[in-house]
Amino acid sequence: MKLFAHFRVANICAMLAMTWVIGYQVTVARCESQKAAAAIGSKRVEALIAAMSIDEKLGQLTQRPGGMRTDDNPEVAHAKREDLKREVREGKVGSFLGAFGAEYINDLQRVAVEESKHGIPLIIGNDIIHGCRTIFPIPLAEAASWDPALVERSAHIAAVEAAAMGTHWTFAPMVDICRDPRWGRVAEGNGEDPYLGSIIAAARVRGFQGDDLKASDSLLACAKHFAAYGAPEGGRDYNTVDISMATLFEVHLPPFRAAVDAGVGTMMSAFNEINGVPATANRFIMTEVLRSQWGFDGFVVSDWTAVTELVAHGYARDDAHAAALAIDAGVDMDMTSQAYRTHLAKAIDDGHLDIRTIDDAVRRVLKTKESIGLFDDPYTDPELHKKVILCDEHRGVARESARRSMVLLKNDGNVLPLKPGIKKIALIGPLADNQRDMLGTWAAIGKAEDVVTIRTGMGAAVGDEVAINFEIGCQIEGGDVAGIQKAVEVARASDMAIVVVGETAGMSGEASCRSNIDLPGHQLELVKAIHATGKPMVVLVASGRPLAIPWVAEHVPTIVQIWHPGVEAGHAVADVLFGKVNPSAKLPITIPRNVGQVPIYYAHKQTGRPPSDSFFTSKYSDVPWTPLYPFGFGLSYTKFGYSKMKLSQVKMKPGESITASATITNTGDVAGEEIVQLYIRDLVGSRTRPVKQLRGFKRVSLAPGESKTITFTLTESDLAYWDSNFEFKAEPGKFVVSIGPNSVDGMSTDFELIAE
Ligand code: NOJ
Repeated sequence: MKLFAHFRVANICAMLAMTWVIGYQVTVARCESQKAAAAIGSKRVEALIAAMSIDEKLGQLTQRPGGMRTDDNPEVAHAKREDLKREVREGKVGSFLGAFGAEYINDLQRVAVEESKHGIPLIIGNDIIHGCRTIFPIPLAEAASWDPALVERSAHIAAVEAAAMGTHWTFAPMVDICRDPRWGRVAEGNGEDPYLGSIIAAARVRGFQGDDLKASDSLLACAKHFAAYGAPEGGRDYNTVDISMATLFEVHLPPFRAAVDAGVGTMMSAFNEINGVPATANRFIMTEVLRSQWGFDGFVVSDWTAVTELVAHGYARDDAHAAALAIDAGVDMDMTSQAYRTHLAKAIDDGHLDIRTIDDAVRRVLKTKESIGLFDDPYTDPELHKKVILCDEHRGVARESARRSMVLLKNDGNVLPLKPGIKKIALIGPLADNQRDMLGTWAAIGKAEDVVTIRTGMGAAVGDEVAINFEIGCQIEGGDVAGIQKAVEVARASDMAIVVVGETAGMSGEASCRSNIDLPGHQLELVKAIHATGKPMVVLVASGRPLAIPWVAEHVPTIVQIWHPGVEAGHAVADVLFGKVNPSAKLPITIPRNVGQVPIYYAHKQTGRPPSDSFFTSKYSDVPWTPLYPFGFGLSYTKFGYSKMKLSQVKMKPGESITASATITNTGDVAGEEIVQLYIRDLVGSRTRPVKQLRGFKRVSLAPGESKTITFTLTESDLAYWDSNFEFKAEPGKFVVSIGPNSVDGMSTDFELIAE
């Protein structure tokens, strides 16, 4: 795998002992950080550092909330904003988050540039996660497109809109790998796989930042949450993370490395601890890995109050201790806790902290401000947003992104695409005519009123020719079953039923974890009642996570996972239902049969007793050990045949590459696109290896009857991993290569990597 190609750690144990145990006397650690010191800045940056007082320097490392949350009381809001301006004027703030609108931001900026002593511009960060005003599908959905070019485009559009509204910096992409759908933030990431996750992470960074960080349509990106935030025990947000070093390096770090290689400008430290050391005080990952090994030269911002939370973790004695630990670990900017500006001057006076540590952090922040052009042109044209926000072009990409992210899970009897001749469609369910929840978890300044509901989208697609008869049936959660009978009557009076069930937007996202991942409320009863009518039926699952839907999977002939699809939800759903678009998306995460199977993921280990018919093997007695739908799975309105798998050679020497090819044929009646996947398995390792690992994928378009040969190249680094000495290398031996439509099916053959 190329991501780790240049990363060798000779003696990881010594490094851990040296770096994970850090006391208050942080100056001791200074010598190790020399090589990670920020390279000298421009004349302007160095002159500023020379001229600034300690308090002004700490101001640059301080990020404050933008004072927008008091909007409902104009007087309070005004007073709050005047206070914030005073802080800016006094050089106590370097950045805001949660400040929106070019005019307000320009106003703050004017105070910074014209009224503060050094005239250093502010950098304004916001959570532009899946769109700004044009809301795209949630990130997990976009990952299901397996289409980095499309992901890059939607991130670029988010950047265009956010930059036009005065934002300079987005706290995205979230690149946390997650194998536990209980965790609410699974919606914001790219699923379970580090290879796919890395490709999508890099695409988002390119999309947000573009080629020129100074351009008016560029947004500085921030890869978060560094690191392993997606592995909390029990799937409970902010909870403890206790994983092996191998899992950290093989599963959780690769997407961050990919973001760094793609040029990401900033990183955010995570809330969680990793094996006993909170990420926000974790010098090993923040400095040794990120800066010394990976060569990251941007700055790191903490997550919201993560610095002072070191006290609650039981890692710092008090806020002052926390601030010293965090800055010494490599966290340059303190998001909202104010611990840096309150305590670090004293830590320097007392000799606990080296001023060079502060200077390095300030240098990184100022260099970043310079790199995005803030010193040249700190203001945003207040008219600009009117031309770009929610324009037709942006809506068009949102529609494309949504329809490319919908996964066809089942289509028995080819119920879809809907056939001509259907005159009455019963459209049922609490998400069928719903605007708010289509937006998904983190909709920035998205507005429910911008959303095309499924009812509206289907209505627009069929015009007067087909009657769309809507009935809600039940609520998403709570409520009663009184409406189900009405829905049944509507279904009985129609030719077929489309039932849209799932989750509210608020059920996923930060702090929104579930211990139960079934359909909430009375929705399963609704599905069962409609099924009992005997009408042809489609279930659309709108959710921010994989939901356990075993009954639906067994009984309902047709199921589409539509996620939370964004502002163009209704048009995109109609495109898929009526066959204007042939689905091609594939699951970026495993769908379990029930929550008890979690964590469940395709790249698991074999174990000494792999599941079999024999009793004493690794399985459950009440449910199969296999998932409901595996990673990489997704159907099409056509069928694809896989044949003629070939390797270029059966033996590979170090330094050589090998090609693997297969022929894919469209054996159905309509044109379609297939995402062809390549997996490897290292049969014997000095540490045990997963049963499969994704190492390539390609999209192929095929007309009915057409065949194409798809070729992948595997290099030694694709075979490498962190071996028993924690060296990243490929070990000689046999490798199985599989090419197929998902992580379970397909063809396999093997080759041998021979020693020199
Ligand atoms: C906390 C979240 O964890 C993080 O992802 C987000 O960027 C910050 N809050 C700022 O809103």
